[in-house]
Amino acid sequence: MNPFHPAPGALPERIVGREPELSAMREAVRRAMAGSPPSPLVVIGQRGMGKTVLLRELRELGGAATLAVPLEVVSGQPLAETLREKLVRLTESVESLPIRVGRAFDAAVHAIPKVSYELPHHAGAIALSGAGDERSKPEDRTLAMLGALTDAARAAKRYVTITVDEMQDADAGAMQTLVRFVHESAQGDAPVLLACAGLSETYALLERLRTYVQRWPTFELRLLTPSETIEAIREPIVAARAHIDENALDELASESAGYPYFIQAYGSAAWEAHHGKRVTLADVRASLSGVRARNEASFYVRPLAKLTPREMAFAIALAELGDGSHEMRAVAGALGVTAPDLSSTRASLVRKSIAAVPIPGRIEFRIPFTDRYLCAHRGEYETADVRAYRAGLARRSAKPRA
Ligand SMILES: Nc1ncnc2c1ncn2[C@@H]1O[C@H](COP(=O)(O)OP(=O)(O)OP(=O)(O)O)[C@@H](O)[C@H]1O
Ligand SMILES: [Mg+2]
Repeated sequence: MNPFHPAPGALPERIVGREPELSAMREAVRRAMAGSPPSPLVVIGQRGMGKTVLLRELRELGGAATLAVPLEVVSGQPLAETLREKLVRLTESVESLPIRVGRAFDAAVHAIPKVSYELPHHAGAIALSGAGDERSKPEDRTLAMLGALTDAARAAKRYVTITVDEMQDADAGAMQTLVRFVHESAQGDAPVLLACAGLSETYALLERLRTYVQRWPTFELRLLTPSETIEAIREPIVAARAHIDENALDELASESAGYPYFIQAYGSAAWEAHHGKRVTLADVRASLSGVRARNEASFYVRPLAKLTPREMAFAIALAELGDGSHEMRAVAGALGVTAPDLSSTRASLVRKSIAAVPIPGRIEFRIPFTDRYLCAHRGEYETADVRAYRAGLARRSAKPRA
């Protein structure tokens, strides 16, 4: 069995290099199990850095002690709808709940948005004021569902874990409702553990929720260090009772450059190429070019092919500034214009998912190493159109402004 897992959200053999995040998660789980309010957690990172993996790990850490609801925001779909779908599916998957609780929970979920539902081990029914009305506000329906969920969990002696993935696409109003519910649950006897993950635009959303989220620990996922990268490659191989030669390991580590998705992708390809119990440099070299081409095609070539000359000139200028996020002013300076001159180009790069605005005034590539890729292939991307556009900008900025 291949011990590498190059797929979205697939748990790696071990989550390497994320000790601060994992220890905050363990602490939150410990508190929730003890019935005291855990701190909500936020994880922010570029594509393929391991956000979904951490949310999954948090749910698994709870084991049988938690009722876990993984929500993934789908842009355009109301969070109340996503939550409802998840709850309905959850009732189908919790066979381990005592049957009575399971049935009552099922009834509760299906009863929403009707008028009332039966609570397990409780006398009578609880009326969900307003929530039964199809015309009721989405936040009332969301609150009613969250209430049903925590009641069912309490009856089953579990705590609730809610994870929200792709948080950057969430609607601020719906998040406000969820966050308020979690905040209030912290004052009661059934605290809810909430963890959210998203791309860098999540910062803007957090800013809008600031009254509640000020003190939430926020973790920014970075690339793994060289020694962590080596660990992340060697460990799965050793766990599969095989061996990897040092030079093969170094080659894989340098190719994946600490990027979690690449670690899995290159590791997996080398594993497929090996024979017996030993991964050699020859295996790595035989597998590398195919998987590199596949990665480059999906991460860089296809997205970059959608750019107009104007957008490409911007992207190249940003790439030349190197890794990480940069001031818009610096990109503008490189092109000889002012930052406001670039605002529509920036907006279209964001729309095409090439770039992101982590905080106002700054810009970064969405996928790690886009800068490195663009600089290495500059000749192909800096076409005559791109050069003509850049020359036009330079001529315009040379003229004194009226
Ligand atoms: N700490 C880690 N060590 C090794 N591999 C990891 C680590 N974290 C994640 N991975 C691997 O990286 C890949 C991407 O992980 P994941 O899907 O969680 O990223 P993501 O940040 O959610 O990406 P996206 O923004 O595209 O949803 C997966 O194959 C996963 O197994
Ligand atoms: Mg993800």
